[in-house]
Amino acid sequence: MNRPVRKAVFPVAGLGTRFLPATKAMPKEMLTVVDRPLIQYVVDEAREAGIEHFVFVTGRNKSVIEDHFDIQVELELTLEQRGKTAEFEALRRDLPSPGQHSFTRQQAPLGLGHAVWCARELIGDEPFALLLPDVLIQAPRGCLAQMMDAYATAGGNIIAVEEIPADKTSSYGVVDVGEGDGQTFEINGMVEKPAPGTAPSNLIITGRYILQPEIFTLLAEQRTGAGGEIQITDAMIELLKNQRFTGVRFEGRTFDCGSKPGFLIANVAYALERTDIAPDFLDELKRIITSNGGRP
Ligand code: G1P
Repeated sequence: MNRPVRKAVFPVAGLGTRFLPATKAMPKEMLTVVDRPLIQYVVDEAREAGIEHFVFVTGRNKSVIEDHFDIQVELELTLEQRGKTAEFEALRRDLPSPGQHSFTRQQAPLGLGHAVWCARELIGDEPFALLLPDVLIQAPRGCLAQMMDAYATAGGNIIAVEEIPADKTSSYGVVDVGEGDGQTFEINGMVEKPAPGTAPSNLIITGRYILQPEIFTLLAEQRTGAGGEIQITDAMIELLKNQRFTGVRFEGRTFDCGSKPGFLIANVAYALERTDIAPDFLDELKRIITSNGGRP
């Protein structure tokens, strides 16, 4: 019987320099896709997968994220007084239950592996999910829920992967594909940000993981890798010597919201899924596209 995955880690300490000046005073995880902050989508995905406790690894200037996941008494009172019951209930639905979220701080930007290691006390000795909030995945069934299905069979560590053009692999972690049925397969190796032309495949690590707690012992060594940072991929490469890693080619569309085009396209894609917005939005969008590339 595989131990249940009850907790999830959300690394939200990054500076968001690619989105300045929007992120000067506001965390990048609070940038909105349609009308929800990025972090809310990722928390929703974790909740859909059965996660019960949400661990946020924050940094300076990130207290708005804590406020977002708290009750806003004045706002709720006003909504109630104005009879805006639907809005009131929607706000409540987005909240984790009392005591089901924790915050810790990464005090220095030493890399993703270091951010995850900062959550070790809050996770303890049990498997956990790791979700990178830069990555939004639009899918009929959430990506983490799909990974939980694979975990129920394979156990061990599970990594969501997706295919990208070979000339883009050097920006990501890349896996070496072993035995499997194409959809789910054993991972034989991994490399973080391979030099052009050296990647073992064109399947990249997408930003969703289920990891066993032994990863923390390896992260504690604080060895630096690509970009001089402590990389989660390097600790996973070590763990692969003793534990099984399974790759899952999930169903769904990924948006890299750490890049401006990815973020903007995510807004378009999520707006087009909303019945309250899509008809008017699509009309305007078509008008922009057909009118000389958007120029008047
Ligand atoms: C991180 C991981 C990388 C993964 C990527 C997904 O890289 O280290 O393995 O492929 O997220 O977005 P970063 O985007 O922090 O450079």
